[in-house]
Amino acid sequence: MIKFLPISQPSITQLEINYVTDVMKSGWVSSLGQYINKFEEGFADYCGTKYALTTANGTTGIHLALASYGITAGDEVIIPDLTFIATASAVIYTGAKAVLVDIEEDTLCIDPLQVEKAITEKTKAIIAVHLYGHPANMIAINELARKYNLIVVEDAAEAHGAAIKEQKVGSLANCGIFSFYGNKIITSGEGGMITTNDEDFYQRAKYLRDHAMSSSKRYWHNEFGYNYRMTNMQAALGLAQLERIDELVDRKREIFSQYQKNLSDFPGLKLNFTAEWAWNVYWMICLEVEGYTETQRNNLMQALKRQGIDTRPYFYPLSDMPMYEAQAIPTPITHKVYQRGINLPSYFDLTNQDIDYICSSLRTCLENGDW
Ligand SMILES: Cc1ncc(COP(=O)(O)O)c(C=O)c1O
Repeated sequence: MIKFLPISQPSITQLEINYVTDVMKSGWVSSLGQYINKFEEGFADYCGTKYALTTANGTTGIHLALASYGITAGDEVIIPDLTFIATASAVIYTGAKAVLVDIEEDTLCIDPLQVEKAITEKTKAIIAVHLYGHPANMIAINELARKYNLIVVEDAAEAHGAAIKEQKVGSLANCGIFSFYGNKIITSGEGGMITTNDEDFYQRAKYLRDHAMSSSKRYWHNEFGYNYRMTNMQAALGLAQLERIDELVDRKREIFSQYQKNLSDFPGLKLNFTAEWAWNVYWMICLEVEGYTETQRNNLMQALKRQGIDTRPYFYPLSDMPMYEAQAIPTPITHKVYQRGINLPSYFDLTNQDIDYICSSLRTCLENGDW
């Protein structure tokens, strides 16, 4: 019988079970409790920021950050065309326009040259997404932000622990946003975190996250807020994972090396690229087959599935989706890259033997074109 290898699965040990059980026994199951504080403090410490604020998930984290910076209808926020939909949705929730720009072909992250071309008088912010574990070029993006007086939000949902010159993502701009969905580098089930060094922004985000309730008059509200809190149960799981983050990231990097060892000689294949200034955490293994069309890519995925190997396609260009049809800026790199790219299994418990099996199946599929 063929063994099924999923694209992703969390690594849950006795530590996670102990912490979550502790919450259950304590009765502090909602958004108050010691695990929330410990998770926030521990995560700020890990990223090297003064503050960290838990949120219900990464999407609410991005929305809360934009709302806390006062982004609203009439504003424009520049984001990459190749990202998960949540980056764009969070902009739309504020009433602002999401302006979709092209990516760099090697890093797959937002291209600073394209960002600069898209800046208008309405531009208020840039969201730099650290896609698939590789940091975006924050040095160039921060320069643009200084030049045009813009806010920069790092969407680090997929890149916990990634860094530029030893400075971790989440600490490289006005604020960073993380996701702890089950397939992320560390998970809390569902969950998110905002990191920042900006005290005023942190206080504002904390207040809006909790229904914008007056701190001096309970149940009094001067404006609309949100309930974007994380529970103590989620934070317990998140804290246990945070305590293991180094081993989780190390294994991601080993997994990449094992794929590289197996596939680097195969002509026309590209695995994750790493810029010389970047520390890549390889959240997902990226594989591109040169010249592939979307149909060929889908056929390859089907062929691998028959071998018990789960894969996922790169994200589709957001600008192709019906909500963004009016997008005027062309994004040729995004359109070239998305159709030739897939993600391969890359989770903690995947063994090197599993990776060898995936790679030999892949080679057979590619050599025989057996679909
Ligand atoms: C790039 C990116 N941004 C934002 C999100 C949203 O995070 P969440 O699913 O926790 O809402 C995700 C992932 O799921 C993501 O991959």
